[in-house]
Amino acid sequence: MCLQLLILYFSGTGNTRFIAERLSDALTDRNHVVELQSIERYRPSDFEKFDMMLLGYPVYACDMPKFLTEYLQKLPLTKPMKIITFSTLGFYGGNAARKVGKRLYSLGMIPMYSREIRMPGSDGLIFLNKDSKTVHSLQTRDFNAFPPIKKAIADIVEETEKARANQTVFVPPMKLGALLTGGLLRFLYTAIERHMKRKLWATDACTKCQLCAQICPSGNITVLPSAVQFGSVCFLCMRCVNQCPSEAIQIGSATRGKFRWKGPGGNFRPAGNSIFKPLP
Ligand SMILES: Cc1cc2nc3c(=O)[nH]c(=O)nc-3n(C[C@H](O)[C@H](O)[C@H](O)COP(=O)(O)O)c2cc1C
Repeated sequence: MCLQLLILYFSGTGNTRFIAERLSDALTDRNHVVELQSIERYRPSDFEKFDMMLLGYPVYACDMPKFLTEYLQKLPLTKPMKIITFSTLGFYGGNAARKVGKRLYSLGMIPMYSREIRMPGSDGLIFLNKDSKTVHSLQTRDFNAFPPIKKAIADIVEETEKARANQTVFVPPMKLGALLTGGLLRFLYTAIERHMKRKLWATDACTKCQLCAQICPSGNITVLPSAVQFGSVCFLCMRCVNQCPSEAIQIGSATRGKFRWKGPGGNFRPAGNSIFKPLP
């Protein structure tokens, strides 16, 4: 039986979007009806028509991005919605999947399955030299054929189909080791993030093209004739730094002349005017 599926995601630098697109293709191939939407542009009105939702997010500081939780809290849920989560992360998510599962359950959803997928770490790529080995290996990797990604997609498709007849809530078990490591990482990330947000600026290479202002998910950037201003609500999604056509946007000086990541397909282009506004 064909399922009506909503794939809802947020992606700062293209990793999560890449997975969401692959999932959409794989589920469509299985004859399901799939709607693929970024939270930045989707304000559900006919949410009820879906049998299940697949939610994708990047792991930030061993958790789901805070703004995504706020978005989910405002979804107009009138029936318990089965939900499958997929998250992309650089190296370690701690107890993120468990925290998210519990949160979704408390919001009236039925978490059925969750999957973490390792991708290039968007928090560190902009500090890499363009001619480094890591950059070379990322640029030459065929992410479509990459076995761990193919396996993750196949597993999520299988679990989505199994979830059709199932009602069992699944929240990943607590990883005891992650209590300490995850806690430490969260502490470190929070301190580093606070520091990085304050260091955003644009060099003279800026052409005032306005792209950064258009694609910033929190509407945090204002391009004036004389300067680029960064406000106080940065999500640190790394989109502006990576997408700036003249590579003018920097975090401090360590990112000057360094690598810019355009997503696994090398073609991530967040839609213009996609400014994220919280649901009313
Ligand atoms: C602010 C920030 C915090 C992050 N925190 C973590 C983390 O705790 N653990 C991890 O493994 N990766 C972390 N990452 C890496 C991202 O989760 C990873 O690169 C993800 O695939 C990015 O997805 P996107 O391209 O869809 O935005 C972080 C990245 C950013 C920008």
